[in-house]
Amino acid sequence: MSDAYRVAVITGATSGIGKAIVPTLRARGLAVYAVGRNAAQLAALAEATGAIPVEADVRDTARIAEALEGVEVDVLVNNAGILSSRAAFQDIDPAEIDAMIDVNLKAPLHLTRAVLPGMVARKRGHLIYIGSSGGQAPYPNMGAYGASKAGLSLFCDNLRCDLLGTSVRVSEIVPGRVQTDLYRTSIANDQAQAVLYDGYRPIQPEHIARIVNDVIALPVYVDVARVEVFPTDQATGGGTMVKFEAP
Ligand SMILES: NC(=O)c1ccc[n+]([C@@H]2O[C@H](COP(=O)([O-])OP(=O)(O)OC[C@H]3O[C@@H](n4cnc5c(N)ncnc54)[C@H](OP(=O)(O)O)[C@@H]3O)[C@@H](O)[C@H]2O)c1
Repeated sequence: MSDAYRVAVITGATSGIGKAIVPTLRARGLAVYAVGRNAAQLAALAEATGAIPVEADVRDTARIAEALEGVEVDVLVNNAGILSSRAAFQDIDPAEIDAMIDVNLKAPLHLTRAVLPGMVARKRGHLIYIGSSGGQAPYPNMGAYGASKAGLSLFCDNLRCDLLGTSVRVSEIVPGRVQTDLYRTSIANDQAQAVLYDGYRPIQPEHIARIVNDVIALPVYVDVARVEVFPTDQATGGGTMVKFEAP
């Protein structure tokens, strides 16, 4: 049963969705290793929840693996992510392409590679990825972010093929708009609250934490492969068309 899970690792635990998942998994009785860069936030989280801080950049797989040496990781929540730039692809700073691919796609793949042999050997484990609706459908100004999340989504499907017979589960949670600090660098002048949240009814991080808890709680022979969750007031699609103006 999934209650055999004892240890969880959560990346991006210092803010938003990751921060909400920590107390939820602690309440399940799991030891939680909280991975983040902000030492003060990690200390506060440890104090409030009993989580074990791992101060590391998620791109530094070796450092995280060293901190987890000898730890039998049962649940890995790959949550850390950035939307560092929102710009038409012809205008995006090329460095931002690498930043988003490195944090949103390469880092979870490498961390998965680090913990997976133990999970497979024990035939016990649950890999959880926080994807994005931006990885399932096109959005303007999200070329690199969307590609990183779409890659993550296919990776989840590929993993399920490789892990057949191991009892290791793979779940991708795919949210629409959640009220967090994700847009802090990509919307100018701290306008994210006014542009994205004021007057809207966005998902709250605790709702995503509840979904993570629920997919873990199911019997181990049941794998919720993908959950798409939107605010009731948000939808994707619509055939955008513009009039051509000659140069
Ligand atoms: N908010 C939404 O509408 C939404 C929608 C769909 C999907 N998501 C996804 O949800 C996940 C969580 O984001 P959020 O909305 O909760 O945003 P958030 O409040 O900005 O939290 C992101 C977390 O990731 C951490 N992080 C970023 N880069 C890191 C790095 N290099 N090393 C270690 N930690 C790093 C941040 O830590 P620092 O404070 O140190 O930067 C922070 O703890 C992301 O994968 C995001 O793409 C969010």
